[in-house]
Amino acid sequence: MASTNGHNPISSHLSLTAVDRDRKSLGTVVRGSLQTGIQIKVTGEQSVEEIRAGKFVVIEGAKHEFFAMITDVALDCTSPQILADPPAPSDTFMRSILTGVSAYGTVTLKPLLMRPRGGVEFEPVKTVPAHFSGAGEATEDDIADIFGAETEGGNHFHIGAPLDMNEIQVCLDLSRLVERSNGIFGKSGTGKTFLTRICLCGVIKHKKAVNLVFDMHGEYGWQGSTEDVTRAGVRGLKQYFGSQVSIFTMDPESSRRRSVPFDRQVRIPYSQIEAEDIQLLQDELNLNPTAAETTYLLERHYGKKWLAELLDMEGEDIKAFAEMSGANAMSVGALQRKLGRMAKECEGFLIKSAADVDDAVREIMGCLLKGVNVVLEYGQYRKPLQYMLVANILTRKIHEEYVKLTEAAGGDRGKMPTPLMITIEEAHKFLSPSLARQTSFGIIARELRKYNVTLLVVDQRPSGIDSEVLSQLGTRITCLLNDERDIDAVLTGISGASALRGVLASLDSKQQALLLGHAVPMPVVVQSRTYDDSEFRRSMGEFNRTASAEVDTSDWK
Ligand SMILES: Nc1ncnc2c1ncn2[C@@H]1O[C@H](COP(=O)(O)OP(=O)(O)O)[C@@H](O)[C@H]1O
Ligand SMILES: [Mg+2]
Repeated sequence: MASTNGHNPISSHLSLTAVDRDRKSLGTVVRGSLQTGIQIKVTGEQSVEEIRAGKFVVIEGAKHEFFAMITDVALDCTSPQILADPPAPSDTFMRSILTGVSAYGTVTLKPLLMRPRGGVEFEPVKTVPAHFSGAGEATEDDIADIFGAETEGGNHFHIGAPLDMNEIQVCLDLSRLVERSNGIFGKSGTGKTFLTRICLCGVIKHKKAVNLVFDMHGEYGWQGSTEDVTRAGVRGLKQYFGSQVSIFTMDPESSRRRSVPFDRQVRIPYSQIEAEDIQLLQDELNLNPTAAETTYLLERHYGKKWLAELLDMEGEDIKAFAEMSGANAMSVGALQRKLGRMAKECEGFLIKSAADVDDAVREIMGCLLKGVNVVLEYGQYRKPLQYMLVANILTRKIHEEYVKLTEAAGGDRGKMPTPLMITIEEAHKFLSPSLARQTSFGIIARELRKYNVTLLVVDQRPSGIDSEVLSQLGTRITCLLNDERDIDAVLTGISGASALRGVLASLDSKQQALLLGHAVPMPVVVQSRTYDDSEFRRSMGEFNRTASAEVDTSDWK
């Protein structure tokens, strides 16, 4: 029954229905359970060494097809005798006789979806395939049935190929993607930023949401760096989408030096800083809990002018304020020193008088509501303190605007603001367990698009993110992770997670990811598509840099 050329249809004795596809045979089901997965004996010509964890496999049961992922590969043999007296490595003759017959490989599969043979509806897996069912490589049709296919104006967006199936496209369902907050995870250098750009391109091209990207390292707006030595860099979003993307910069000098065509400079008046922003910077500023309370006292007393007032205080003023407000004079003094240092570190963009600066929030909102995506470049102001302060102020204010607009729409979808997705790298800095309850980012992640705002969190240390926030992430795209805690974190709230642990740890160190959640019907490992090669550029279509900045958003909701 085992095929010899590796291309015969598997389990031909069961080929009773029209759905049977020409799947390359991998092996035969020998044992298994719903809980622990299905074991198959590897048959045919394939060496176990060619079989990788994460590969997509179809098991042709008697009544159902099961769509499964390889979670483990092992060796077995028919008799303990052989193990007691194995052939020497140099004995190629004996080795070839035993291999595949008396000594063979086994593969453990985790079925993740099933459908009746001949049927079209997929169901969750509730049973196991019968003994001796055949298992084989999925075909292009299998993948398209499950993940959908990319069509012009459609919902599906090609993100990569199943392992060892380079020609085949796995798609994300973009409408489902933007319905929830999402995460892109992986160690440093595994391809998070590249995958994030790919996802953003899909969302922008198909107009599923408007984006605000906090671009800490200058990788999204105009041009991104690459470790590929044959290229100087890769195109950023503006090179792809022209006037549909607006670049705002904190550091015009740096943008000019890198020939980045930016639209606006962002500066922030003291009056826009609130106690919440300072709370977020507790660690960066080394503040104690009393200092945070002092901030709230100052804010209550001086309103928007609190920071300017604090920084201007002399010793006498501090004493007077302490007496009047019940604050501790020592901690007011300490807070003044620390926030003075912050103001100094941020003086390139933090401006004392609101009269001297354009209102960046209003300008960004103006773009977003027109459907124009905004990338904020930090330039030299990319220290964690600077990055976090600005991202938090802008997000808080923009979220407030969205709440107002959504409430004013009173449930009328036509009047709702364009759905907004906010991309944030180093997300754990904003979403740690101690902060996620209070900061705008934590609120957005937990309120489930109630106000048409979601997050795309990008992070190399997901274990640093509050578990309630993690469990709210609809779709998780995860590249290689080694740290056990990080692996546990991305699998928070996933049923059957234990089988996926090994898969996550065995991904390539670059450009491979496990996709799971809302935007895919079942978990799948992909080789992510290459960003900015000629195929990618073609698929983005013609882009017209001089096109009108007005984007028709009427069909977005
Ligand atoms: N999808 C991809 N297409 C092309 N190159 C990629 C892709 N993913 C990763 N790479 C390569 O891997 C390098 C690291 O990827 P990057 O996204 O910068 O990692 P991370 O953000 O996780 O640190 C890139 O510079 C690029 O050379
Ligand atoms: Mg990166």
